Amino acid sequence: SKTPIVDIFNSKFALGSQVTVKGWIRTRRDSKAGISFLNIYDGSCFDPIQAVVAAELTNYTSDVLRLSAGCSVAVTGELVESPGKGQQFEIQATKVEVLGFVEDPETYPMSAKRHSIEYMREHAHLRPRTNMFGAVTRVRNCLSHAIHNFFYERGFNWISTPIITGSDCEGAGEMFQVSTLDLENLPRTDAGKIDYKKDFFGKETFLTVSGQLNAETYACALTNVYTFGPTFRAENSHTTRHLAEFWMVEPEIAFADLADAAQLAEDMLKYVFNAVLTERADDMAFFAQRVDKEAITRLQKMVSSKFVRMDYTEAIDILQNCDKTFEYPVEWGVDLQSEHERYLAEEHVGAPIILQNYPKDIKAFYMKLNGDGKTVAAMDVLAPGIGEIIGGSQREEDLAALDKRLDEMGLDKEDYSWYRDLRKYGTVPHAGFGLGFERLVSYVTGVQNIRDVIAFPRAPGTAEF
Ligand code: 4AD
Ligand code: MG
Repeated sequence: SKTPIVDIFNSKFALGSQVTVKGWIRTRRDSKAGISFLNIYDGSCFDPIQAVVAAELTNYTSDVLRLSAGCSVAVTGELVESPGKGQQFEIQATKVEVLGFVEDPETYPMSAKRHSIEYMREHAHLRPRTNMFGAVTRVRNCLSHAIHNFFYERGFNWISTPIITGSDCEGAGEMFQVSTLDLENLPRTDAGKIDYKKDFFGKETFLTVSGQLNAETYACALTNVYTFGPTFRAENSHTTRHLAEFWMVEPEIAFADLADAAQLAEDMLKYVFNAVLTERADDMAFFAQRVDKEAITRLQKMVSSKFVRMDYTEAIDILQNCDKTFEYPVEWGVDLQSEHERYLAEEHVGAPIILQNYPKDIKAFYMKLNGDGKTVAAMDVLAPGIGEIIGGSQREEDLAALDKRLDEMGLDKEDYSWYRDLRKYGTVPHAGFGLGFERLVSYVTGVQNIRDVIAFPRAPGTAEF
């Protein structure tokens, strides 16, 4: 009969062979019979490995009995079937080498007990050691690879758009300024204004809120492109859905309209949900057990359901005529709040909704005006449990119509000359969207606060580590 092959920390070993594993101690348990059980993890996968250490080992008293959560070790021994409960295999240790003890186990911030998520957030440099953040990190990694795979399989080119920019894509004025000027001794023009010509780039610059405008230049030449990079927003939002620094996935497709962008969004989400369900089943099982019991079933449901398309106007009608009382009243023309989005997705439809055709006055300058003259070809994907995870639109490809919008919004055409060129030279219908990557991770894992799905969150008053 064949020798079983066992997977430990992403490496394959034959049962009965000599192995060496390197990792950190999660727990140590000593039996009365003079045996210690070490639970060791290395973070590469969810499952730890158990090492069984007998008192005969020469450094048993001097080292093994001093091991506590967080100590780093290299353990060598025979890989055997485990007679105990909770694990299939274990290592009968013949050598335990301690690489690093934990200085004072009593005060080690990540001791083996279960910590609150708020406590872990305050120790962002040590929280990767917890089961929770190991799982979040691996799921995040899987999702980002799945996104790249999805676009690569469809022949999209990945474009790196700039992080430092002069333009405010969303026009919300929520930009972090980038400057080398001396705040205490600002250069002034004769008129007394700050002289940005003396700044590093010779003009005012900011951290980008979106790579879209740059991505459009490439879609209008390579047809299907996407960006996946960090974006920044100086919005003073103290919510569980907003970060000042977050990652965004932004496909931009040419010869395409809003319906094409909506279909692409639906296909992409289903693709990445499938990937995480198959490739990170171990971590998803953990989330389903410890964080949100719907974590797996919700994704399975999403993968097999058709996303509902609904017009903004119909959504307003539903919200006005439902039994629920909202904190923010609803009428045609208002921007939807999270409570409205969640009602629609969770209670009214019970599935993700692609909400379309919003009033032009609450949307950005670049969105294509619809025939009614009142709405634009915009869409938001609203997911049950979180609300908006994607925002997108068909772009205005007609120069005259774009100029009219720029004028209406008091924007300077000079500033958008390069963007207007795309409409002057071989313009085509095109569309795209932005997926907030942390909102996706939060949705997938069920981890409620967006600050807990990014390694080092940046939010108002929070830029530690
Ligand atoms: O809806 P938004 O503002 O759309 C854009 O920026 C477009 N330029 C995208 C495009 O069409 N290429 O942002 C897109 C998504 C939102 O749906 C949300 O998921 C996420 O980005 N997002 C945030 N995520 C975390 N923290 C914040 N402060 C976010 N603001 C937006
Ligand atoms: Mg939006």
